[in-house]
Amino acid sequence: MSRVDVKLGERAYTIRIERGLLEQAGETLAPFARGGRLIVVSDENVWAAHGARLAGPFRVEAAIVPPGEASKSWAELERLVERMLALGVERGDHIVAFGGGMVGDLAGFAAAIVKRGCGYVQVPTTLLAQVDSSVGGKTAINAGAGKNLVGAFHQPAAVFIDPLVLETLPPRELRAGYAEAVKYGLIADPAFFAWCEANGAALLGDDVEARLHAIETCVRMKAAIVGEDERETKGRRALLNLGHTFGHAIEAETGFAMLHGEAVALGMTLAFRFSAARGLCAPGDARRVEAHLAAAGLPTRLAVGTPERLVGHMAADKKASGGRVPFILARGIGGAFVDESVALAEVAAFLAGELAP
Ligand code: GLY
Repeated sequence: MSRVDVKLGERAYTIRIERGLLEQAGETLAPFARGGRLIVVSDENVWAAHGARLAGPFRVEAAIVPPGEASKSWAELERLVERMLALGVERGDHIVAFGGGMVGDLAGFAAAIVKRGCGYVQVPTTLLAQVDSSVGGKTAINAGAGKNLVGAFHQPAAVFIDPLVLETLPPRELRAGYAEAVKYGLIADPAFFAWCEANGAALLGDDVEARLHAIETCVRMKAAIVGEDERETKGRRALLNLGHTFGHAIEAETGFAMLHGEAVALGMTLAFRFSAARGLCAPGDARRVEAHLAAAGLPTRLAVGTPERLVGHMAADKKASGGRVPFILARGIGGAFVDESVALAEVAAFLAGELAP
């Protein structure tokens, strides 16, 4: 069992990572029930596969949303908030976000705004949520203009991670989550990237030890970064957006047909190729990134949109300012940095080359 602390003063919390943790859900979640009742937000798939496992000395009130990114919407937020109000949620209460990144983002945002904020607990059930999105308190829904454009920083009170729940995760979702794990190696931990090259196939098979190692490595790094730069104002947390500016544009362009992690994989490949094109990193590093992500079954070649459309999505990014978007580029594997000097016209020229037949 591992415990990782997110050191945020009065908003500090602990992440527990443990094989079989869900079997102890009654004990771990009981402190978050009130009046014998526990409110759980989940999606239809997760609830059907694992809902019965949340049994304990409490009555579960489940708020179930349709699976998929489309549920990060105003309509589902409204439905969820009204349900929470009908259930009489109070400020001191905690709701449980039991699902992947979509459920965590939606439930976390609902918790941030109901009665100006109640508590919530993350019980992530996808690899993507376990290695990244359940930690750090970013919550959001999507808007017509783009992904995650309406949201709040709202830290959970605890995160409970059980790698065994991944056994029912579809392989495509596992691969997509793996991209977010690889991201941590690419940002600042070349040894972890080398570990991924050696152990990625086992992790994507059914090796629970490999999954535990990856989850713990990523979560430790994320907890440290969030502890230093909770609100992404100091240039540290922004590094976690490696591949995301390209990725969000690609997701928007595909109408979210591509999973977030798939778009991030492609976005990270583009970020490394762009870095190599600017003379920042060795072309061999970019090739190594592409080779590993492709070997993991992730997309690495751009085949959607036009440079103008993709750059148009980037201009709508919440981090855009005055026609520029801070890009996370790299001086090598493990050497990511924030580059504020990139003009969108330069990105468009690069994308034109990527899209050329
Ligand atoms: N997923 C990036 C962050 O939490 O900052």
